[in-house]
Amino acid sequence: MLELDGLQVGYGRSLVLHGVSLAVPDDGVAAVMGHNGAGKSTLLRAAIGLLKPRAGRVLFAGEDVTRLAPHERVARGVAYVPQGQQSFPHLTTAENLQLIADSRPRGKAAMADALDLFPALRGLMGRRAGLLSGGQRQQLAIARALITSPRLLLLDEPTEGIQPSVVAEIQETILSLTRRGGLSVLLVEQHVGFALRAAERYYVLESGRVTSSGAGGQEAERDVRQALAV
Ligand SMILES: Nc1ncnc2c1ncn2[C@@H]1O[C@H](COP(=O)(O)OP(=O)(O)O)[C@@H](O)[C@H]1O
Ligand SMILES: [Mg+2]
Repeated sequence: MLELDGLQVGYGRSLVLHGVSLAVPDDGVAAVMGHNGAGKSTLLRAAIGLLKPRAGRVLFAGEDVTRLAPHERVARGVAYVPQGQQSFPHLTTAENLQLIADSRPRGKAAMADALDLFPALRGLMGRRAGLLSGGQRQQLAIARALITSPRLLLLDEPTEGIQPSVVAEIQETILSLTRRGGLSVLLVEQHVGFALRAAERYYVLESGRVTSSGAGGQEAERDVRQALAV
């Protein structure tokens, strides 16, 4: 569904990704793990088109989208949930969702679908996003992305900074989302166990390079922890 091929990406003069290649399977999940500063968020920004690569290509559903702007990639079915549970803090939950739904042909139905996945949001429709808990804001951010009916979802550390009691709930929702089919996910995640449970493929990123990769699943946990320990 998504292929990154030899991506070199940076900010100003500094290069962060030194030729990263990875693939997200059709209807499947690829997980990217790595320490803080490894370049995981930079990778997702390049995948959605917020950063232009100095070299390499981004292929989505077989099409070279390297030169396309973010909104053109969104129109093709890519959705991006940045790190940090961002929504419009002064708008209510309902307004944050409606804003996306209004701009889509099937928006109303897609919004109802998203709320079925996150039923807790139904009770928070009148609350400002800025007053939601971290877990609730993350649910809202994912729900907003789903309203665009994406074929590929880019998720940047969806459980980061969330109360431990809520982390498992978010993880279960992400798993049920990926298992119902029709959606590919590029998941950046620090929780190795969860990431491998969700993913068909994993990639460990260190200082802007893929240093380890393989099939997902619990069996990979030792290899990944070893790769992360060095
Ligand atoms: N907006 C930016 N401008 C300059 N450097 C940045 C910016 N964002 C990230 N970086 C640098 O790029 C490197 C990778 O950051 P990032 O992709 O956020 O890593 P990760 O998500 O793996 O923690 C870090 O050295 C970071 O300081
Ligand atoms: Mg990051």
